[in-house]
Amino acid sequence: MSKYESEINRRRTFAIISHPDAGKTTLTEKFLLYGGAIAQAGQVKGKKNTRAATSDWMEIEKQRGISVTSSVMQFQYEGYCINILDTPGHQDFSEDTYRTLMAADSAVMVIDAAKGVEAQTRKLFKVCAMRDIPIFTFINKMDREARDSFELLEELETELGIETYPVNWPIGCGKDFKGVYDRESQKIIHFTSNGGAKAATATEVALGDPNLDGLIGAVLHQKLTDEIELLDGASAEFDLDRVRHGKLSPVFFGSALTNFGVEPFLEHFLKMTTAPLPRKAGEEVIDSMDEDFSAFVFKIQANMNKAHRDRIAFMRVCSGRFDADKEVYHVQGGKKLRLSRPQQLMAAEREIIEEAYAGDIIGVFDPGIFSIGDTLCAPGKKFKFDPIPTFAPEHFRRVRSLDTMKRKQFLKGMEQIAQEGAIQIFKTPYSGMEEVIVGVVGTLQFDVLEYRLKNEYNVDLYMEGLPYEYLRWIERTDGIEEPVKEEDLNLGTDTKLVEDYKGNQLLLFGSQWAIHWTEDRNKQLKLLEF
Ligand code: G4P
Repeated sequence: MSKYESEINRRRTFAIISHPDAGKTTLTEKFLLYGGAIAQAGQVKGKKNTRAATSDWMEIEKQRGISVTSSVMQFQYEGYCINILDTPGHQDFSEDTYRTLMAADSAVMVIDAAKGVEAQTRKLFKVCAMRDIPIFTFINKMDREARDSFELLEELETELGIETYPVNWPIGCGKDFKGVYDRESQKIIHFTSNGGAKAATATEVALGDPNLDGLIGAVLHQKLTDEIELLDGASAEFDLDRVRHGKLSPVFFGSALTNFGVEPFLEHFLKMTTAPLPRKAGEEVIDSMDEDFSAFVFKIQANMNKAHRDRIAFMRVCSGRFDADKEVYHVQGGKKLRLSRPQQLMAAEREIIEEAYAGDIIGVFDPGIFSIGDTLCAPGKKFKFDPIPTFAPEHFRRVRSLDTMKRKQFLKGMEQIAQEGAIQIFKTPYSGMEEVIVGVVGTLQFDVLEYRLKNEYNVDLYMEGLPYEYLRWIERTDGIEEPVKEEDLNLGTDTKLVEDYKGNQLLLFGSQWAIHWTEDRNKQLKLLEF
């Protein structure tokens, strides 16, 4: 195998999802610790109150303790080169999560052992299921009182509709969390010291070992023997193919806080996940081993660093090798260009990189030319990766600057944030440049918008809620090329004609019923959802 192939083969790229507080940040940090990317836990996630995880860039995240944007970290472990994509835990940002999942080959779902499936787990899981990517479950916080493990599995299956396969099984919980039983090797991994800030230590003992009673206690030993019998009789067969199609979720138990079970998880997970997968570009399939470089933009984030007012486009390398000295072709822009200041986030720091391989995520300086979903490839090629679907906004507000003198900054800020994909902006045919109609998927995005306009553009916003919930693009069926005029349409009071910033016309509706009503009375229009 060439160096090039082995570089791609050793890459693993996954996203991590959870309901807030289940332990996503702590687990990510422990991965970095085991990978040697940080020397001691606590470097990624700050002390109580500050909650300054590396992955949290924005002040608002620190204030609210939620992760609003997703970020990327890379580390090495036992020969693998691993890219972790963090995702926002709050459902209002599930579109962001979806885009991040587009860049991942699998997902790790963190569940709190005392709480089981929570509201955001359900929502985020749905987003994963839309992509059919492999989902690995880590049942966390076993060092605390936990719910019955069988009950947790059953809940995952009934609530999320995915079959589960416990790869290991916990021995006790809370203070009595002694270790996990590895079903494949039939060995017990007995945790001997609480890792905390450093890696945990463990010893392996075979199931029938006479010392087991002494190690884990006769009661837990008996319980384990009974549970293994039950498990072997009841649980689904392990089927790697079904795992890879997102139909069967391998389940692991552990405690990110004490590090127990983190390493066993990593070891199995890395073997079960695949090297970077091929990607579709219309009729073509681009294999990660293709010699030519290709990538797509899945996220754009402005002003990550307040000191440098920069805008970063994150792209997933899909094939070949990225070489900072070589020109690439930006398909949507129709231009050859050199990607400037390509960087990667390594644990606590951003680093400028010279090369990256399929599976890697790079952030490049974006002078305002990229949009989400854009393809970059080797000059001479012209394929486009399949587009990243957008979620239809469900909440709308009329927004303007409180200070009319700040119209320019206001528009700039709104347009930039819209380009990042966090909001969608519209205008009415008669409104000037003073106000914008903003549509979002989750209302928290309005808070982020308000905060960012104030902090990054120095603009205070006036916002007014609008009673619309649905949106449809308009296509004329009467053969006339001109845009439709409001006076020529028969619209109810809860329907509004607007335009997006590319000049496409659309209608906003207050109810599903209003959509049918409008369709019936305006036969010259076809209403399209996308
Ligand atoms: P999140 O990113 O999913 O939102 O969760 P995060 O890792 O921030 O963890 C949320 C809280 O749960 C933190 O406590 C963290 O220490 C704790 N935690 C994470 N994993 C475990 C675990 O395996 N066992 C136990 N017992 N606790 C765990 P906090 O009080 O909010 O913050 P901190 O002061 O501990 O940092």
